[in-house]
Amino acid sequence: MILKPNIVWHHATVTRERRNQQNNHKSCVLWFTGLSGAGKSTLAHAVEEELHQLGCRTFVLDGDNVRHGLSSNLGFSEDDRHENIRRIGEASKLMMEAGIITMTAFISPFQADREAVRNLLPHGDFIEIWCKASLEVCESRDVKGLYAKARSGKIKNYTGINSPYEVPKDPELIINTDTLSLKQAVAAILDFLRGRGKILI
Ligand code: ADX
Repeated sequence: MILKPNIVWHHATVTRERRNQQNNHKSCVLWFTGLSGAGKSTLAHAVEEELHQLGCRTFVLDGDNVRHGLSSNLGFSEDDRHENIRRIGEASKLMMEAGIITMTAFISPFQADREAVRNLLPHGDFIEIWCKASLEVCESRDVKGLYAKARSGKIKNYTGINSPYEVPKDPELIINTDTLSLKQAVAAILDFLRGRGKILI
């Protein structure tokens, strides 16, 4: 944290711990990363649905949606992607403080950016989930038709085509989204959360 000379931190009396106690679960950040089309959003929303039905407080910050608002002034240059992930990191930290199990679905292609968010949060609260699917599979899905545009040169800096995706070095979970069913993937994540004591149900 950069210290600002004339700004004094105000300590809340309603703390994250008290919110967690009231909610009967622990807040954390589930950080889904992977190529476009790897299934990050689908999986994040499916996990959210399951957690919601279990009575947990949840929210999904989704790449395409956030780029319409919070990050609407950013593009896909390296600098803009760094800034996008920095903002999402800070936003997810606030949501986690508010007691919410926060899920983020951004390509977040750079290891250093993901690492910076990890370091922003208390140890154990950043859960990096690599949605692992080959470029071939993602490109063959091409749900939004953007891979085709990137191949034909209509989009520059497209992740996987002409901009890098740095695979996570040591993620908490690797989900092979091209072989696992959605149900299996959700179950793996729920099991992980139970194992870490984030949820008790
Ligand atoms: S990130 O790199 O900054 O993490 P983010 O997840 O917010 O990216 O946005 C990715 C989404 O934007 C993709 O799913 C795709 O729909 C769209 N998009 C548009 N242009 C690009 C591009 N050049 N590279 C990757 N995704 C792009």
